[in-house]
Amino acid sequence: MFSLSKYDKTKNSIPMNLKAPFLTPKRRLLLFLTLLCMLPAVVQGEDGHRLWLRYDQLPDTLAANYRRCLSELWVRGESPQINVAAEEIRRAVAGMTGREPALTDHPFRGKVVSRTPRGLVRPSTAPGLLVIGKAGHPDIAPLLSVGATASCGEEGFLIRTLLLQGRPVILVTGNSDAGVLYGVFALIRRMQTGDALAGLDLLEQPAYQRRLLNHWDNLDGTVERGYAGHSLWWNTSENPEILADRYRDYARANASVGINGTVLNNVNASPEVLKPEYIARFAAVADILRPYNIRVYMSVNFSSPAILGGLPDSDPLKSEVVAWWKEKVKEIYTAIPDFGGFLVKANSEGQPGPQNYGRTHAEGANMLAGALKPYNGVVMWRAFVYNPTSEDRHRQAYNEFMPLDGKFADNVIVQVKNGPIDFQPREPFSPLFGAMQKTPLMVEFQITQEYLGFSDHLVYLAPLQKECLDSDTWCKGAGSTVARATDGSLFPHRLTAIAGVANIGRDTNWCGHHFAQANWYAYGRLAWNHQLSPELIGREWLAMTFSPSSSFTDPALQIMMRSREAAVKYMTPMGLHHLMGWSHHYGPEPWTDLPNARLDWLPRYYHNASANGIGFDRSPSGSNAVEQYGSPLRELYSHPTTCPQNLLLWFHHLPWDYTLSSGKNLWDELCYNYYAGVEEVRYFQKIWNQLKGQTDPERFAAIQKKLKIQCREAVWWRDACLLYFQTFSQREIPAELERPVHDLDELMQLKFNLTHHN
Ligand code: GCU
Repeated sequence: MFSLSKYDKTKNSIPMNLKAPFLTPKRRLLLFLTLLCMLPAVVQGEDGHRLWLRYDQLPDTLAANYRRCLSELWVRGESPQINVAAEEIRRAVAGMTGREPALTDHPFRGKVVSRTPRGLVRPSTAPGLLVIGKAGHPDIAPLLSVGATASCGEEGFLIRTLLLQGRPVILVTGNSDAGVLYGVFALIRRMQTGDALAGLDLLEQPAYQRRLLNHWDNLDGTVERGYAGHSLWWNTSENPEILADRYRDYARANASVGINGTVLNNVNASPEVLKPEYIARFAAVADILRPYNIRVYMSVNFSSPAILGGLPDSDPLKSEVVAWWKEKVKEIYTAIPDFGGFLVKANSEGQPGPQNYGRTHAEGANMLAGALKPYNGVVMWRAFVYNPTSEDRHRQAYNEFMPLDGKFADNVIVQVKNGPIDFQPREPFSPLFGAMQKTPLMVEFQITQEYLGFSDHLVYLAPLQKECLDSDTWCKGAGSTVARATDGSLFPHRLTAIAGVANIGRDTNWCGHHFAQANWYAYGRLAWNHQLSPELIGREWLAMTFSPSSSFTDPALQIMMRSREAAVKYMTPMGLHHLMGWSHHYGPEPWTDLPNARLDWLPRYYHNASANGIGFDRSPSGSNAVEQYGSPLRELYSHPTTCPQNLLLWFHHLPWDYTLSSGKNLWDELCYNYYAGVEEVRYFQKIWNQLKGQTDPERFAAIQKKLKIQCREAVWWRDACLLYFQTFSQREIPAELERPVHDLDELMQLKFNLTHHN
């Protein structure tokens, strides 16, 4: 459990003043005293608070090399973002090489008139210079050919090695200060992963304009589906300044991967958030995050005009409602001039929305968009809608939103969960992607592991996210991936964005599980560049967070790369879904049945297990959800013989003796899958144990402990699901597999206590 005093002891933000050398004698004394105070924390050991921004001393040869390349720093331009960039590189170089680069104002004799063409950088022993600044700065422009940064876009960067007056130079630039900041973090990442700094010529542009985290944080300080302690943002008795260092560390971590927006409150939004005192807190946080190029956004409750404003109702077509929102938006922008906009969950799971007044989602969204438009704010309108009707839940968002395609204002973007149900371990992509073409759509991923073992299970989510982003919708022929349908390349939408539901809380290590930090990191990296591979991202993260040595990263990466598939296997293999416990969503409860419960919240709605078989028939003979996908997917999904086996029971209800391409029958295959999932986790335990000594003992032990929990719970999932389904299949678990270690009765009695997870 997070406690402020514990945090205070372990924080590592060291303020730096750009105008003075970092370690003056006075500062040395201060540093010494600070270190003295921190001694208990040091003795206490490694707690993971520094995330992937550790900047520990590198091996001598590498450190010497980087020291030579970065011996001086020439910062061009003055702005909060440039200052942050300069501060970060100084801190990183000081930490990794033992010497911070000296600040210089006159790196060259006279004016630089010529530059060495790209690729012609000769080795030089002269001390290297790092130059950072915007491409348009009068001292930077002469170093670049015309149009050199054109394809960096607004927030991309260029890192290039030059030889100027015999001096090796690394130039980090972009078209905006934010671009420079991101370039600096990219350079730091190269150092952290041990890459060479010679001959650099890197140009990057982010895939999406708005790369957001969504915090499901309630104003009372709790976090919906949060497994890493209380909310970073909401504890009304605290002044945001108290947590400023922690917020800056949060911002640094986000900026290091390019996240540029954050929604600070839960999508199940309290109308209270629009009260002046909360707006003031948003403004205070915005002030701290702004230098890191992070804008704040707010989730709003559609009924706020009635509940908070005292209007008779919140009908979006009524002029007094429109006027109320306009006034509110004006008040917000007066406090936060670069406020990002609203996120709205409307007519979903009991939240109010325009349909309460007979209006459509588009009418509701457009009304808010109109209020935000004069300030360039946007509306992210969620498509997570479903009702307990006879219609298959899979089909409902599509049914509701497709007729509205083209009817949204141009500052509205529809936020769609990656799959049609709800962040299950595996889902097909939502059929809205590729289908809704006249409206910009953004993918919403869940980084917090609501359905994936909370912060107890090691599940690296990049493969899940990548699977969705790389899924071919076929909407414009082969290669029309979800990524391309949302990043502006298939449809020329003005607005592009992506969101991840954050797994961050006040736990000292931010995410509850040390490996869950990788999911925050990987989401940001994919939001920046969806073409990166999960392997590459995972390797980067391991090198930065633990150790760059391949004797550590190779085996640890294996665990990461296999972990998502392992979880699918021990929880919901072969397309099964929604088998988890009622309400808390932890652990298996395929049997749950509650009087008067919504059928679509019960596992049996999804697994349909009976003596006849198991699975959800979404083929043309069933709910026909397959028709929502374009050809040839529609046809492939329609038939059990062509449907990918990992989605088989998502789209089909099949008899227990159905024969699969492997020659095994469905029941046996299901058993082998569940058992394989458990074996994977046992294997992870073994690999991790062999890594003892390769990382600090504290994190090693913490992860070892979590893997033990995960292993126990994988067995729990396996036994619970198979023993329960066996009551229908009436078949034996294949003889060569070990026997279940639990009894079904015993598992059905288990009561889960959510509080131990917070
Ligand atoms: C899931 C989750 C809820 C959340 C909802 C949403 O249903 O369990 O806690 O509010 O998703 O995304 O709105």
